[in-house]
Amino acid sequence: MNVNGRHYRTIWLNADGWAVDIIDQTKFPHVFEVVTLRTPEEAAFAIKDMLVRGAPLIGVTAAYGMALAMRQDASDAALEGAYELLVKTRPTAINLKWALDGMMRVLKPHAAGGRAAQAYARAAAIAEEDVAINQAIGRNGFAIIRNIAARKGPGETVNILTHCNAGWLATVDWGTATAPIYTAHDAGIPVHVWVDETRPRNQGASLTAWELLHHGVPHTVIPDNTGGHLMQHGLVDMAIVGTDRTTARGDVCNKIGTYLKALAAHDNGVPFYVALPSPTIDFTVVDGVREIPIEQRGGHEVSHLTGRTEDGRIETVEIVPRGSKVANYAFDVTPARFVTGLITERGVIAANREAIARAFPERAAQ
Ligand code: MRU
Repeated sequence: MNVNGRHYRTIWLNADGWAVDIIDQTKFPHVFEVVTLRTPEEAAFAIKDMLVRGAPLIGVTAAYGMALAMRQDASDAALEGAYELLVKTRPTAINLKWALDGMMRVLKPHAAGGRAAQAYARAAAIAEEDVAINQAIGRNGFAIIRNIAARKGPGETVNILTHCNAGWLATVDWGTATAPIYTAHDAGIPVHVWVDETRPRNQGASLTAWELLHHGVPHTVIPDNTGGHLMQHGLVDMAIVGTDRTTARGDVCNKIGTYLKALAAHDNGVPFYVALPSPTIDFTVVDGVREIPIEQRGGHEVSHLTGRTEDGRIETVEIVPRGSKVANYAFDVTPARFVTGLITERGVIAANREAIARAFPERAAQ
């Protein structure tokens, strides 16, 4: 993605050749700041405190965290220790465990001497794979948008609703849910995006809106409770959201509030698509509602809001009476029956066990 005319990914090797640079997403949309990670502890902190977030980017950051650990100490004990440190950072997005398990498979058989180089190579490969997957999702999702545009007629805008940030900032590049949108926009199809603000951390208002603005995609930020009303009035042609974990039968776990949008879409006959990179499929779970651990985060994210004042200061204010309890469930699960289709790197498939296993037989068999 281009930021002020310069191409960025969300994670890259520092000029020193070993440290890892990321963009601090807690500062968005007001400050663009690059942070350098030098230790596995710093990588773990960046994931846990959400300097980086989004399922695919969490996975890549964890992989580089292992590389940083191996550079310090490539012993078996250090390898196990780094895995334990990183795998505990966030519980819901499965890409974290997928990436770390992949690192372990590659690194364990190696003698300590070669582990650091192997770790950097594997982390870089995971990052490259993410970009290629997202580009393919972009091409496959583009076909859906193009069909809707053709049905609507020449010059008519396709209105797409999205939730949270499943964009460039949630991945290494392109995004998952945004990849079809960027592809359609770049191909000249008029698209407009309804951006759910996505309380409590506002990844829609502060990240998705920022991305779309920089790419020149027309969009409107809406309070989270608005989508249903828009759908009732024919103002949403389709929804595309991301996923943090999709089960073997196609249940989709994503940012809290996704389920409510899926219900509204179902009630109004609005196609509800999920952009699904294959590393986000967890073939070990079937019933998403019962089996996926839902992260519960600190109450401060609900009781407080951070923003920019008129005179440019970044300030945090309290919006809940002291003494009121708050709850902060970070994700919810949308059952497969509410998902119109899964936009994967291997095509758009039905959200059911057979279609998923058919599209990814090598993963299903593991
Ligand atoms: O808590 P976050 O910001 O990490 O949650 C991110 C999401 O829910 C995204 O929609 C999901 O990770 C898909 S990202 C391609």
